[in-house]
Amino acid sequence: MLRRLYHEQPESFAFTPANAAWAEAQISKYPEGRQASAIIPLLWRAQEQEGWLSRPAIEHVADMLGMDYIRALEVATFYFMFQLHPVGSVAHFQICGTTPCMLCGSEDLIAVCRDKIAPEPFQLSEDGKFSWEEVECLGACSNAPMAQVGKDYYEDLTPERFAGMIDEMAAGKVPVPGPQNGRYASEPKSGLTSLTAFESGRARYNASVQRAVDLGDTLKRIDGSEVPLTAPWRDKGANHAPAPSSVVMNEEPVAISAKGAPKAETPEEAPKAEAPEPAPARPAPETPKAEAAIEAGTRPEALSGPRAGKADDLKRIKGIGPKLEALCNTLGFYHFDQIANWTEAEVAWVDDNLTGFKGRVSRDNWVAQAKTLAAGGETEFSARVDKGDV
Ligand code: FES
Repeated sequence: MLRRLYHEQPESFAFTPANAAWAEAQISKYPEGRQASAIIPLLWRAQEQEGWLSRPAIEHVADMLGMDYIRALEVATFYFMFQLHPVGSVAHFQICGTTPCMLCGSEDLIAVCRDKIAPEPFQLSEDGKFSWEEVECLGACSNAPMAQVGKDYYEDLTPERFAGMIDEMAAGKVPVPGPQNGRYASEPKSGLTSLTAFESGRARYNASVQRAVDLGDTLKRIDGSEVPLTAPWRDKGANHAPAPSSVVMNEEPVAISAKGAPKAETPEEAPKAEAPEPAPARPAPETPKAEAAIEAGTRPEALSGPRAGKADDLKRIKGIGPKLEALCNTLGFYHFDQIANWTEAEVAWVDDNLTGFKGRVSRDNWVAQAKTLAAGGETEFSARVDKGDV
């Protein structure tokens, strides 16, 4: 299938603050120089946020990872999990049309799509809620025919059940994913022939379905607000700064302090908070304590959005262009006075976390410039920006 970028593209893309923190945590899993390894989760998150992947989103992710745009475009256009066109606001159905599913009736499912959604793949339904496409084997052949919607598989489908599912979704309901014919998982249709002793004690749904039901997330896209912010790997190994506000999926929400460390609500809760396991013993640092703290860095206080909805024009600081400004915003920095108050340790943290622009804060002395601008003054550079000379 020819996969091209959509002919109409938005002007720009930025992660929400929660998604930006999550993305930074993903990047921190990889050693220096290997940040590109985080491209799949970051592209997926961008798609979850917007519904599809636009060119600005792909380029934004490439900038975060210090990659050439063409490398990110290669990934986004290769995998059909990435939608390069706008898709239905409620659901985009990926109908498996490979041999086992075809033999079990996938063509009838596609006929339902043509009838109830739109005649052509990627065409939006009249109400904009649905779209569909045919894809290759999704690895659930034992439950053929099947369709994927977002993160979930709907299996053992019949045209009638599939049409009913579309109606339920249109009415705002979320059909339970998994087998749609009463099967528990992929056991014989006639029932278990072995391990029958486990049948009575099992959960209502198979593990995948039960998890989706417990999270209640199926059709709902991930937006970063539903998961607690921790990155337990961040304190492990010598090369990582202390955990900033970052995200990992787990069971219980954890409050996050301004500095990014999980906050226990009560002393009793402290032991079960998502605190990292103790790091392995390391040799005593050779540098004095204060210097070591600066070297490790401290995450500055971040904002979830600009005050009064209006950010300062950070591009008035010499060294900050549109991409760095967007990166600062995704990290929660919107105002001159925030930057003006950064300590040495905080500068070290920001320097280390400006992916693709490491060291720029110190190199261009942002703090001194921001102090002048926050006080209402102007620098030689900001005067040129204001005049339109830059
Ligand atoms: S053939 Fe459809 S999931 Fe494999």
